[in-house]
Amino acid sequence: MTPANFIEALHQEIHQTRYGQYPAELYDPIRYIMNLGGKRLRPLMTLMAAYLYTDDWQKALKPAVAVEVFHNFTLMHDDIMDQAPLRRGQPTVHEKWNHNIAILSGDVMLVNAYELLLAVETPHLKRVLARFNRTAAEVCEGQQWDMNFETRWDVTEAEYLEMIKLKTSVLLGFALELGGIIGGADETNATRLREGGIDMGIGFQLKDDLLDVYGDPAKFGKQVGGDIIANKKTFLLIEALQQATGTIKDELIGWLSRTEFDKQEKVQAVTAIYDQLGIREITESRINKYFAEGFANFEQLEANSTRKEMLLAFTHQLVERES
Ligand code: IPE
Ligand code: IPE
Ligand code: MG
Ligand code: MG
Ligand code: MG
Repeated sequence: MTPANFIEALHQEIHQTRYGQYPAELYDPIRYIMNLGGKRLRPLMTLMAAYLYTDDWQKALKPAVAVEVFHNFTLMHDDIMDQAPLRRGQPTVHEKWNHNIAILSGDVMLVNAYELLLAVETPHLKRVLARFNRTAAEVCEGQQWDMNFETRWDVTEAEYLEMIKLKTSVLLGFALELGGIIGGADETNATRLREGGIDMGIGFQLKDDLLDVYGDPAKFGKQVGGDIIANKKTFLLIEALQQATGTIKDELIGWLSRTEFDKQEKVQAVTAIYDQLGIREITESRINKYFAEGFANFEQLEANSTRKEMLLAFTHQLVERES
């Protein structure tokens, strides 16, 4: 098995998935966002984690799609909350249709995710649902912290790390743990998969924050500078607020306080401040640190070494990703 085999099987499974038919306004946006692509990172992790412990990794396909559908539901609602115009290089659902449609289509996607999770074999089902429920609630908690932090100035790095752990990392952790459970991993290894995913997920969200400022618009697929426009308390901004002194600090606070501004001008000015303070390099070294912690957890997994190597190689690519 290679990653390409998993990707192929996953794409087929997604292609075969039926979300519902009428009214079209409810279901078309689901097909739209699911067909926009994306890296399919979480379901691939579920499949690779299952394959660590079983040859019959196909039984993880529907649950893997459940994780991807859940992820896409969170993106649909996140884009409303973040007023984001672009997702994967195309208009977001609330822009292409409207807010109410994006809310309700997202809601039914959560139901679709539960439906797909029912494919988990009975002996594992209750445990999987309990883990999924906790994870889903945590993602909402993280999303609410993220919104609360927009209007706060004193967000600490520790608060930020907890927020991204909730909004992003726990789902990566769950995707891996889910594969492990389905594959038959014991408690220790399933927990290691989850914890490795959580560490890696922190690195992953830091990289997302970095790309939001320094990404290539042609590759990133989202509006570059969106976090700066919304005063998101990203790692970059928290670090800049800590490092800045004198006139640079005044200028930064000035941009954060302004309620009326030219978006491009603000993005350029805040990016220039990040450049002066060397925020990019600081962020990159943090990204490497969290990924390294994730890899250390994966190294400890008791599993076939070739299969483990595949999971490690796959996650390694995420450090250098551009989208
Ligand atoms: C975007 O996730 C949301 C975050 C948690 C940063 P991805 O970067 O995995 O998005 P897609 O699915 O590949 O588009
Ligand atoms: C979103 O974080 C995490 C979730 C969707 C739960 P972001 O708001 O940074 O994700 P993007 O950048 O819009 O993909
Ligand atoms: Mg967003
Ligand atoms: Mg967001
Ligand atoms: Mg982002």
